[in-house]
Amino acid sequence: MSCSNPSRRCPNPRLKLTGSEIRKKFLDYFAARGHRVVPSSSLVPVNDPTLLFTNAGMNQFKEVFLGLEQRDYSRAASSQKCVRAGGKHNDLENVGRTRRHHTFFEMLGNFSFGDYFKQDAIQYAWELVTREFGLPKEKLYVTVFREDDEAEKLWTGTAGVAADRVFRMDEADNFWSMGDTGPCGPCSEIHYDQGPAASEQGHADCAFPCECGRYVEIWNLVFMQFNRFCVKERAGFKTSEERAQHRHSSECLRRESLPQPSIDTGMGLERMAAIVQGKISNFETDLLYPLIERAAEMAGTSYGKKPAADVSLRILADHSRAAAFLVHDGVHPANEGRGYVLRKILRRAARHGKMLMLDGPFLYKMTGKVAEIMSDSYPELLESTQRVAAVVKSEEQRFALSMDDALKRWKELVSEEASQRVRAIPNILPEDWPSLLPYKNGLILPGEKLFQLYDTYGMPWDLMEELANEEGLKLDRAGFDEEMERQRERARASWKGVAKQIFPSVYGSVLARGFTKFDGYQQTTSYDCEVLALVANSELVDEIPAGTRAELVLDHTPFYAESGGQVGDTGLLFAEGTKEDQIGEEAAVVEDTQKPVSGVMANRVLDDGTIVPEADRILFSGIITHRITSRASLRVGDRLTAVVRTENRHATMRNHTATHLLHAALREVLGTHVKQAGSVVEPSRLRFDFAHFTSVEENELVEIERLVNAEVLKNSAVETDVMDLEQAVETGAMALFGEKYQDKVRVVSVHGFSKELCGGTHVSRTGDIGLFKITAEGSISAGVRRLEAVTGEKALEQFQAVTAMVHWVATVVKSSAADLVEMVEKVEKLAESERNLEKQVESLKLKMAQAQLTDLEARIRSVKQVKVLSLRLEALERSQMRSMADFLRQRLQSGVVVLATVSEGKVALIAALTKDLTSRLHAGKIAQAVARKLGGTGGGRPDIAEAGGKSVTELDSVLDEVYDIVGAML
Ligand code: SER
Repeated sequence: MSCSNPSRRCPNPRLKLTGSEIRKKFLDYFAARGHRVVPSSSLVPVNDPTLLFTNAGMNQFKEVFLGLEQRDYSRAASSQKCVRAGGKHNDLENVGRTRRHHTFFEMLGNFSFGDYFKQDAIQYAWELVTREFGLPKEKLYVTVFREDDEAEKLWTGTAGVAADRVFRMDEADNFWSMGDTGPCGPCSEIHYDQGPAASEQGHADCAFPCECGRYVEIWNLVFMQFNRFCVKERAGFKTSEERAQHRHSSECLRRESLPQPSIDTGMGLERMAAIVQGKISNFETDLLYPLIERAAEMAGTSYGKKPAADVSLRILADHSRAAAFLVHDGVHPANEGRGYVLRKILRRAARHGKMLMLDGPFLYKMTGKVAEIMSDSYPELLESTQRVAAVVKSEEQRFALSMDDALKRWKELVSEEASQRVRAIPNILPEDWPSLLPYKNGLILPGEKLFQLYDTYGMPWDLMEELANEEGLKLDRAGFDEEMERQRERARASWKGVAKQIFPSVYGSVLARGFTKFDGYQQTTSYDCEVLALVANSELVDEIPAGTRAELVLDHTPFYAESGGQVGDTGLLFAEGTKEDQIGEEAAVVEDTQKPVSGVMANRVLDDGTIVPEADRILFSGIITHRITSRASLRVGDRLTAVVRTENRHATMRNHTATHLLHAALREVLGTHVKQAGSVVEPSRLRFDFAHFTSVEENELVEIERLVNAEVLKNSAVETDVMDLEQAVETGAMALFGEKYQDKVRVVSVHGFSKELCGGTHVSRTGDIGLFKITAEGSISAGVRRLEAVTGEKALEQFQAVTAMVHWVATVVKSSAADLVEMVEKVEKLAESERNLEKQVESLKLKMAQAQLTDLEARIRSVKQVKVLSLRLEALERSQMRSMADFLRQRLQSGVVVLATVSEGKVALIAALTKDLTSRLHAGKIAQAVARKLGGTGGGRPDIAEAGGKSVTELDSVLDEVYDIVGAML
């Protein structure tokens, strides 16, 4: 039974199926039909610079659709976390204003990779919707791409949908693509009729397809057939600027067929939940309503009372989910890329919180609730609740602070603009014109400046509009939009730059020639390596002369390509040698090693027909490219000996294994919430970022170092195994979020201490690390700490350097190292007594200044019943002037104090009022008026202000004039 009142005012819906149950039903249905249920991938797409956030279930299968990657299953189903805010699919501005737009949502999908196609996809979808979920057929409509006769026939034939319920639509509605480039194809959608009550435009009897909100798309079936690509990108750009500036258009975009027709479907979980739970709005389902209630409770209101407040409550519910999931997946507020979008989401929420009169940070309090209601499907959220809350809270606080600055800047901007305007009409205004409001009337604030307010101080447009209305100003929206567009362009350009390893797309065709087998786990020298490809100036070439910078691909190599935080190897390539001496002339210097094409070819069959043994498949890491400078001419087909620079590699291996030990030790000492958030492993040091909300205390660091070094001393074997991902996770191996793993993974373990999924190179026993020493600890952003450490020779160097320094200090102070502690304590005491002496000197100086106050009474006059004191003092510093002004204000109890002193040939002035006079006088204006007579300027707060002047000789007479100056202002 559904709730008797399915409208938005039903606070306690009686559910038919919960969101979790719908998710489960969907996945179980496809699992029973031979689909592998695959976990959701991270919201941060791995290795795909074309995508800002994961925006569809198919993202994690992009390379499978393109034929660049194979899996050991050809059917899959998933419930995928998605964010559509920024990039091609962007719903941000609609969120909260409609019942079914979200930034964060979940997409249920089934996928076929060259297995079934249209017929089964349609059959499954219809059966699931009508039989399993029991939606009445008379409420369903279907759309097909206008040219897709086959799909139409399948819907009416096999599925039995009435012909008048199938509609043909154009490309805009029924042709789906992931982005400007990538897999795409015609699609077919199932829509549900929610009845006239759902019409947002009050339609009583509109027919399908009407955009009024009555008909809801619930499932999109994409018949993936094409890959859209850019011809310019494929040919390769000459420079990185050219790449950054390139915009796709119909001129450069082409379509090619995918290797095999495939299926990608997406059902919006929230929409389905609304329908199944008898709700018109997604926000009233069990997936979102508890969040609305939480927000309403904090704001002391309830949902359904005021339409404007409801919009804000929906925004808070939606944005709290996006914030919780994005931060969990490692996104942090920033000024560009993903972090910028997160910042926008958080600030939009803050603004709506303000509209609900919520004071101080509040959204962070909702992120725990998100974790709680989503924990069924995403239990990992519970592990990061504190970190997520800390990151969100810190951004909220930051925003509140920048809002104060923004309001200040707004006032300045209005004054500046008003002054420009009145300068055009000279001599009609007194000098304090900015305070005269009428001159602001009708003033238009330029878009460029407004954009700065938005961009630098985060002031949202709505707020600017509100302020402008209050103050009778106009805003240049067109100019603002222009600036915004320019900013977007910059963001897009910088986004492309984020993909650190940009490689010419020629690598797509190198794949066709073969792959690189990595044999560097066992050795650092490999013989008989064939040159598969040479890339110079972004183009494939057959030959390069000596002295060329180029990229070179071998069929097998011991060089490790940068990945998982471990830097790429460096070394040398040699020509083939003679029988006696396998190494010939030096052929090239390898400066770096990278992986331009990722993806393990899990089912790879070698050219000679042999099937790669399962345990070795992990070794086929797509292509490895060596960045070289050639020493001799080189040709494709040459056979070379590849030699890795072992001293660097061994140092890197020590640091990599030490990173794993450090990770395990951190979890032991600080808790299991510690999660790796990035690492760099290079020969000279290791750097490890991790989620943790406070600094690591000195005693904790000592304990962490002790634990790691204890493992080093045990000299345990470091073991590597290749196994199924599931098996690895079951045995407790730590997987990193944001990483994309294949089904077969490599697990690196130190018995009883550490077990991690890792493709890096490691020492064979922990004792090889020698010694481990932490060198730095700090914060890189809210909730993320960074540790740096050294091992082996570097750790010894560090130890020797510190010891040498202690001895040096001991020699300088003519003491033994052992006595140094006592010595340092003495120095501390001396410093303390120096600080006390300084304080005494300050107070003595003030007393001496007070001694100058002999003729004080004579200088106090009553001006229009206000006591005014104007006084010259000698040789005072600014800070003493301020203390003196305070002292005199207290003496007067009620009055005005103007003090002046001469220092370094200039006059320093201070004007101060007692609080009771601030409604009648302004210290800033008094200081300014006095300073002007001395050829200077100044200003400040209403109760105290400082100023400076040049005419020292005039000072005494100007001080006598102070009484008149103040009198004129009263
Ligand atoms: N990729 C399609 C979509 O996002 C179907 O999953 O709508």
